[in-house]
Amino acid sequence: MARFDGRVCIVSGGGSGLGRATALRLASEGGHVAVLDLALESATRVADEIAASGGTARAYQVDVADPKSVRAAVDAAATALGRPQVLVSCAGTGRFANSHEMPFEDWQRIIAVNLTGTFLMAQAVLPHLLDGGGNIVNVASNAGLMGIAYSAAYCASKAGVVNLTRALSDEYVKRGVRVNCVAPGGMATPFQNTFRELPPGADPTSLGKIRSALGMAEPDEVAALIAFVASDEGRYMTGAIVSIDGGITT
Ligand SMILES: NC(=O)c1ccc[n+]([C@@H]2O[C@H](COP(=O)([O-])OP(=O)(O)OC[C@H]3O[C@@H](n4cnc5c(N)ncnc54)[C@H](O)[C@@H]3O)[C@@H](O)[C@H]2O)c1
Repeated sequence: MARFDGRVCIVSGGGSGLGRATALRLASEGGHVAVLDLALESATRVADEIAASGGTARAYQVDVADPKSVRAAVDAAATALGRPQVLVSCAGTGRFANSHEMPFEDWQRIIAVNLTGTFLMAQAVLPHLLDGGGNIVNVASNAGLMGIAYSAAYCASKAGVVNLTRALSDEYVKRGVRVNCVAPGGMATPFQNTFRELPPGADPTSLGKIRSALGMAEPDEVAALIAFVASDEGRYMTGAIVSIDGGITT
């Protein structure tokens, strides 16, 4: 029997990169996957990919930063697929900026998507998880565990995800819900393109510490870890922050 046989799994940011790899992985192990993304076409492509390989998936548009949008997408997924038992929050955004020049709107959007969005997804899915058990895997970053120049909003948002995970874990550990966090380092995904451009006057050498001697991870490698944590094999894990970052946060 596959680890996610018939289990309804919701993946935010499922249209690309790590979210896509996670959706494919959970579906390949029997999960019925709700692929949620701001970009509906990407989510639909991934759901179609899953269906073409014999799996079960549906695509939904969501802006994780908007509570109404989150509720609507989670409700629609639960109605179509059944009670969600797994939530993986992959949706994320960010870019480099000089902190003293960063537009307020950019700060707000990064915090809204990465931190508030992770909370809103958890809040919408928790009533389902409490109704028979389940678990949440949040996606943070090495940036949530270390300082990185030109990344104040991104670092702050991901550090928030780290401690949000611990707080939720403590709150729900006695009620059948595990909450964990996977913290990747650099992954070969489209997200990296947004981090190519340095702000004016930036010193590239200050970013040397985020480059691993092992290069970048493939999203599949990180998705495999997420699947382990979300499966029953991760039964004893809750409140864990699991790094998979080529050693850069040692
Ligand atoms: N790629 C890396 O090097 C790296 C490293 C550490 C952590 N991460 C984290 O991994 C997660 C996945 O990133 P990725 O590398 O797969 O990036 P990606 O850009 O390939 O995928 C991110 C997805 O999130 C979606 N998204 C963005 N804003 C959204 C919103 N408001 N509502 C719903 N969906 C939204 C995008 O449309 C996209 O499909 C992110 O949380 C990111 O911060 C990435």
